[in-house]
Amino acid sequence: MQNVLITGGAGFIGSNFSRYILQKYPDYRVVVYDKLTYAGNLENLCDLRGDPRFTFVRGDIADAALVDRVMREHSIDCIVNFAAETHVDRSLLEPGSFIMTDVYGTYVLLEAARKYQVERYHQVSTDEVYGAKLEGRSVESDPLDSRSPYSASKAGGDLLVLSYYTSFGLPVTITRGSNNIGPYQYPEKVVPLFITNAIDDQPLPIYGDGQQMRDYQYVLDHCEGIDVVLHRGQPGQVYNVGTEVETRNLDMARLILDLVGKPYSLIQHVTDRPGHDRRYALDCSRLRALGWRSRHSFAEALEKTVRWYLENEAWWRPIKEGSYYREYYARNYGHRQVLAKG
Ligand code: NAD
Ligand code: TYD
Repeated sequence: MQNVLITGGAGFIGSNFSRYILQKYPDYRVVVYDKLTYAGNLENLCDLRGDPRFTFVRGDIADAALVDRVMREHSIDCIVNFAAETHVDRSLLEPGSFIMTDVYGTYVLLEAARKYQVERYHQVSTDEVYGAKLEGRSVESDPLDSRSPYSASKAGGDLLVLSYYTSFGLPVTITRGSNNIGPYQYPEKVVPLFITNAIDDQPLPIYGDGQQMRDYQYVLDHCEGIDVVLHRGQPGQVYNVGTEVETRNLDMARLILDLVGKPYSLIQHVTDRPGHDRRYALDCSRLRALGWRSRHSFAEALEKTVRWYLENEAWWRPIKEGSYYREYYARNYGHRQVLAKG
């Protein structure tokens, strides 16, 4: 592998992964292919701009002609697909773009991967496809039990990817990661939303009772897991990636307020998300068997993340002050009732 196509590489995880790959493999070339939706941001890649091994192409993964041209012109021999619509709350408001990108776009990339006989097609997926896991841990062979349009569209993508292995022998792998936190995460996801609201003394809207649990992992640990699977994973296999430690949302909110130095009274319990999954929990022993370890505890990951947002207001403030974000905020939060305060 030398010429890696990183789709969705201008987003949160994809930009961290692009940087990671260029640093780790001096002989690799990276082409980031990204539509630059509201979540894509060239600022996330600004330090890579002068690197002769890095190219950016603006494009939609559902655009088969452009994908084909990029595959040919850059002699792509590996695709890592991060491109997706990724926010559960938006999938409840407007599911259509999720189907177009996460399902149809994945199909377009798979066809290109097949035509150009790539050495590896890697799909970046999520723990959400297993559905809520109230007890125990999800293993890779568990049935998929999607409950939001986001999760369903990601599950559709996963099934397509696996079908290209079975039907056409395409060397595919899939990782299913838990919630990521770290630099460059768009402030609609809960952790950067709460950090930036706390900095501005704005309420932290906790959905429902706040007892839902997520496994929050540091983004670079996830990137390392994807790298391990890309190079040592078995074609046709799925690998879970997470810390195997779950944190309640309410505890996460309090830890953020402690780190930012703001009072718990900023916490507001608001109307719950419909179909809100109470808990996700992964068993990551298959990936650990390849030698991978999660390096950051939740406390370390959160501390680094809070510090990054405190030091990088110039990155997130223009996003939060923009009309696109404000309209979304009003649409998603405006109608919610305040159930209780911190
Ligand atoms: P993100 O929303 O920050 O970034 C998504 C990127 O994809 C953006 O740059 C956007 O412009 C691009 N994109 C969207 N539609 C596109 C299209 N049609 N064509 C080309 N580019 C398009 O997302 P993220 O949090 O970095 O997530 C990346 C991947 O990882 C997604 O596939 C997501 O499902 C998966 N994932 C995310 C998490 C998490 O906690 N964020 C956890 C597990 C898995
Ligand atoms: P989120 O970051 O949207 O990730 P996901 O739903 O994909 O896991 O949300 C993480 C958890 O935080 C989830 O249980 C929903 C909850 N949450 C809130 O309580 N308030 C919010 O404003 C948001 C965005 C999420």
